[in-house]
Formats: sequence, C-alpha cells, structure tokens
Amino acid sequence: MQVALFCDLLCLERQYFMETLLLQNLYKIYKEGEIETVALREASLKVQPGEFVAITGRSGAGKSTLLNLIGGLAMPSAGQVVINGSDITRMDEYHRSVFRRERIGIVYQMDNLIPFLSALENVMLPMQAAKRTDPKNRAAQLLDEVGLKERLHHKPAQLSGGERQRVAIAVALANEPSLLLADELTGELDSQTADKVMDTLGSLNATHKLTLVIVTHNKTVAARAHRQVTIADGKMFESEAAHA
Ligand SMILES: Nc1ncnc2c1ncn2[C@@H]1O[C@H](COP(=O)(O)OP(=O)(O)OP(=O)(O)O)[C@@H](O)[C@H]1O
Ligand SMILES: [Mg+2]
Repeated sequence: MQVALFCDLLCLERQYFMETLLLQNLYKIYKEGEIETVALREASLKVQPGEFVAITGRSGAGKSTLLNLIGGLAMPSAGQVVINGSDITRMDEYHRSVFRRERIGIVYQMDNLIPFLSALENVMLPMQAAKRTDPKNRAAQLLDEVGLKERLHHKPAQLSGGERQRVAIAVALANEPSLLLADELTGELDSQTADKVMDTLGSLNATHKLTLVIVTHNKTVAARAHRQVTIADGKMFESEAAHA
C-alpha cells in the first residue's frame, strides 16, 4: 500500500522516461605526482531501460569510480558514457549538472547531506533547484516512505548513519530520476530496513522502469538484480544471472 502510494506520488507530475546506459571503453587513471592508479580499463557495459544491475568487486576495484563517471561527477581519462543517446562526457559542466539533476538520482557511499539543513530541507533542495511544485509536501511524503516521518526536522548530525542514508535515498528520488545510481545503498541499514528500501526500489523498477545501478557487497541485495557485474583489475565481467 505504502509502495503503491509512493509510486503514485512519484508519477504525479512527470512520467518516468526510459534511459539506455552505454559505457564504452572507459578508462580512469588517477595521477598523483609520479604515481598513476588505473582504476578502470576498457570498462564497457550496456544497461537497458528498466534494468536492475548490481556491481560487485573487492574494495578498491573501481566501483565508486564507475558510478562517479556514470553520474558525470568525474570525467573518464578515455571512453564514453552515453545516456539515452547523449554522451555526457562531451557536455559542458553546466549542461551535465542540469542533466544529472533532472535525470539521475545518486546515493553516495558517504552521505552527501547538507549539515545545516533539516532532513526535510535536504530533500526539498533538488526539487527547488528544478523549480518543482509543492516541494515541501512531496519531501515529507518521500521521507515518510523511507520510514522517517518522525525525523523531518532533524539535522544530519542528529540522525543515525542508517537514517542519514535513508534521507539520502529520498534526496536521490526527489526529482523522479529515470536512472538511480547507489553506492553501498544498504551498507548501513539493518536487514529489515534494507529489505524495505530494496522493496521500494524494486517496485519503482518493476512498475515505472526505474533503471537501477547499485554497488553492493551484500549478496542478498545483489541477488535481487537482473544482472550482476563484477569489477576486477579495472575490467568488468558479467557474473551469473540472478532472477530474470
Ligand atoms: N581521487 C583519487 N585519487 C587517486 N586515486 C584514487 C582516487 N579515488 C580512488 N582512487 C583509487 O582508485 C581505485 C578505485 O577506487 P574506488 O573508490 O573506485 O574503489 P571501490 O571499488 O569503490 O572501493 P570500496 O569498495 O572500498 O568503496 C583505488 O585503488 C583507489 O585508491
Ligand atoms: Mg567505493
């Protein structure tokens, strides 16, 4: 019931539209003085609209680097990131940030909340930037959905790690993205809350074709994905299929 309401809410103003994500021969080389770290090499991946892909790999394998490139938060050393036909590596910073704000939701590995704003204000912020109507009510409903109805006016420092992560999820969903990127989304959540969050995202994925690319170490979360992709030595490998 809650999930159905949530979907109604998210689809009220704007229909989700589909995105194909195409990563072509991505390289990311970090240079610090003489030291070069090749975080990604020849990384290629195609994600169909509405797919749910789990990215796994050991610590330092390049998972966060990959999400940063998909979200346009960092530029590859070579290669392309094409979302719905647009190569975001060729956009200027302004157009890339508008594209990101309106099309992509990102939940970071370390939460990215603004410390002096309440949970409610943090969720309202991207809606206000995009000039959406009624941000306050929509933000309150999103926070209710992630189980934080009683925490609307708490600042990040007054919330637990798991609560902050749930606020970050509400922030990421605020502008009804068609592509959601999440880095260790459920890492700080107990298994019951993690299940609830995954149920919500699973429902948005199934009903509205929200494309999900999720980095996780959690086998139960990864098993929910349509496909699992592992990063090792900077390259990407398809793992065994989870459910179809
Ligand atoms: N800004 C940076 N400058 C230099 N090296 C970096 C930078 N960011 C990441 N790296 C290096 O690139 C590699 C990939 O890092 P990344 O953060 O993508 O790993 P990860 O798979 O997300 O790891 P974890 O599971 O620990 O979060 C690591 O060797 C890391 O040390
Ligand atoms: Mg990481």
